[in-house]
Amino acid sequence: MDSILIEGGRRLSGEVEASGAKNASLPLMAAALLAESPSRLQGIPRLQDIVTMSAMLERLGARVARAERRGDPHGDLAIDPTDFADLEAPYDLVRKMRASIYVLGPLLGRFGHARVSLPGGCAIGTRPIDLHLRGMEALGATVAIDHGYVDARAPQGRLRGADCIIEGPNGSSVGATCNVLMAAVLAKGRSVLRGAAREPEVGDLIGFLNAMGARIKGAGTSVLEVDGVEGLRGAERRVIPDRIEAGTLLVAAAITGGDVAVRGCIPEHLAEVLVKLEEMGVEIERGEDRVRARYVGRLRPLAVRTMPYPGFPTDMQAQLMAALCLTPGESTITETIYPDRFIHVAELHRMGADITLAHATAVVRGVEKLSGASVMASDLRASAALVLAGLAAEGETECLRVYHLDRGYEQLERKLSQLGAVIERVRYRRTR
Ligand code: UD1
Repeated sequence: MDSILIEGGRRLSGEVEASGAKNASLPLMAAALLAESPSRLQGIPRLQDIVTMSAMLERLGARVARAERRGDPHGDLAIDPTDFADLEAPYDLVRKMRASIYVLGPLLGRFGHARVSLPGGCAIGTRPIDLHLRGMEALGATVAIDHGYVDARAPQGRLRGADCIIEGPNGSSVGATCNVLMAAVLAKGRSVLRGAAREPEVGDLIGFLNAMGARIKGAGTSVLEVDGVEGLRGAERRVIPDRIEAGTLLVAAAITGGDVAVRGCIPEHLAEVLVKLEEMGVEIERGEDRVRARYVGRLRPLAVRTMPYPGFPTDMQAQLMAALCLTPGESTITETIYPDRFIHVAELHRMGADITLAHATAVVRGVEKLSGASVMASDLRASAALVLAGLAAEGETECLRVYHLDRGYEQLERKLSQLGAVIERVRYRRTR
């Protein structure tokens, strides 16, 4: 497995481009299965999770191809779903990426039957899919769990519109909202999804589905009205920029005492992150499609609670924590979405951080310095936090298991070195 080596202590400055959002790309790719003709997605980042989703679509019988485009480093992703071979999403692919569950809604909606392996737990908690299944059942599906698979069938081969609540004890669910929405667009009649997630990634999916011929109203609100249609056609869509990647790069400015601008992002999608950075004392400049974060002196501690959008995103919690480790005073971070999402705390301790955990709240007392160490990434955003900590730490940090990072950050080392970081990937060589 590759690792990343960082020589800490460099102040980052300059401008980098945001990549397309991984978490928007995955549902868009699954949604392409709903159409009777090919779709073209633009700006899809080159990431391991995208490779896994492509493999999943191909396993089901769709054709997926990257077409290069002049001046666009990403190229387009063409998805041709006209020849389906299979309605089963196997465990060997689902276990690699939980978001594979996104094929459930499109398969069930279009063909009236789907078999999708249950994803299982992951490093950030148990992560159930009960809300996805409850939504499918509300639309008339019969859902059975057998041999580790979800087997869902629509009576007479077609779902029927329904009024359903898709919110759970921790609030709205991005995954369940996207999945149930993709099932509902071809259902007979009208559906109303209440308690829907308002994340920009859901809005992107709605934009794509409507371009395919779906009739969905309410994007950006928690009540989505869907009038089922008889069929959908392929469409073109440029995926939204990755707000979490952009946020991570802006925190890099705060933690290194630097000055970083991210262009090609949507500042509004980062609103709460920017407010928190400002509260910390970072100067933020918002442009039309650009945000600049500038360290202008001593940082101030924060109290943060992760919340569904438009609240502070759980996917930025670990990265912000890295910066708070070096912020004088006592900060608190409460995780309301994944109460166990604190595995990075133990690794930050190894670098000299002072953090105590009680229930789902971390109390972070700022220290004078972090020191470079060998640290182990446990999940995607935790890896990003360790890289950020390494950028600010004294000496060398070796971040192991960077495949987590490769699942969700496109060329992070290149972007960071463009900003002046001393960072390199050490390729794993099999030794005999
Ligand atoms: C998505 C993101 C992930 C982010 C998360 C929360 C993708 C591919 N992943 O994950 O990066 O951290 O949103 O913003 O987009 N829940 C249930 N039952 C369910 C589904 C969810 O109880 O059936 C709970 C979860 O355990 C969690 C909360 O609802 O506490 C929100 O989870 P959800 O929004 O569904 O996360 P994902 O879509 O899996």
